Amino acid sequence: MNKISSTSLIGGAVVVAMAVGLYLGVAKRGLPPEGLGMGLWRKIKRKKKPLRVYMDGCFDMMHYGHCNALRQARAVGDQLVVGVVSDAEIIANKGPPVTPMHERMIMVKAVKWVDEVISDAPYAITEDFMKKLFDEYKMDYIIHGDDPCVLPDGTDAYAVAKKAGRFKQIKRTEGISSTDIVGRMLLCVRERSVSDSHNHSSLQRQFSHGHSQKFEDGGSGSRSGTRVSHFLPTSRRIVQFSNRKGPGPNAHIVYIDGAFDLFHAGHVE
Ligand code: CTP
Repeated sequence: MNKISSTSLIGGAVVVAMAVGLYLGVAKRGLPPEGLGMGLWRKIKRKKKPLRVYMDGCFDMMHYGHCNALRQARAVGDQLVVGVVSDAEIIANKGPPVTPMHERMIMVKAVKWVDEVISDAPYAITEDFMKKLFDEYKMDYIIHGDDPCVLPDGTDAYAVAKKAGRFKQIKRTEGISSTDIVGRMLLCVRERSVSDSHNHSSLQRQFSHGHSQKFEDGGSGSRSGTRVSHFLPTSRRIVQFSNRKGPGPNAHIVYIDGAFDLFHAGHVE
């Protein structure tokens, strides 16, 4: 009896070890290893602890740069938790946001790559908050774009996470930011009353024009000194943003149109 149970125990251990070994060997390709059925493969995959990643941000006047950041962050792990920075923290570190906390929450929650949202997150990752992220929220990594994020005292907002070896970076999307959108709005106002042409062209130099720049400046986008988004909607890029699913055979397909300028909580609803 003892012999049988120890044999089956060893046998079981060998099967598990083989499965784990095979799993580790081919996990990257996402296919079942040779000799392993799809059912067992799925079971092993299910048992693997999901990699949880945290990204924080202000997400003021949410734009495609933010969505691209969330998409990339989600691709780093299996579950993405987003900390939406509180109004008070934004005021203290950057100046007042245009969209308040509850609207920013609606926007972030609506993004398909976001699994969980934490409201009133701090602007900087402190030792205490990092501990909470690891112990309470079971985070594996903290993620931010590759732009420097400095606090008013000049220190790095992610220094603690970097020191702990739990920080990962994604590529920031060029040519779009909340500050840039505010600049574009100022340009719209100026265009309606162009009495101060010096200030107008100075604003144009600072902010991307947003609409039809390539037609207005002959396509270079640089003659007027404005910055133009390099976010090209190539077919590869569109696939990255899609969920790779088409409508089912009996699906009801609805159409809605609109300008969707400065996409906001009302649009989401
Ligand atoms: N982000 C990005 N590309 C952009 C803008 C933001 O990848 N064009 C990323 C940031 O690096 C950050 C997250 O989106 O990881 C949230 O950004 P947010 O806190 O809203 O602030 P900013 O980086 O200042 O964005 P903005 O300049 O638009 O205010």
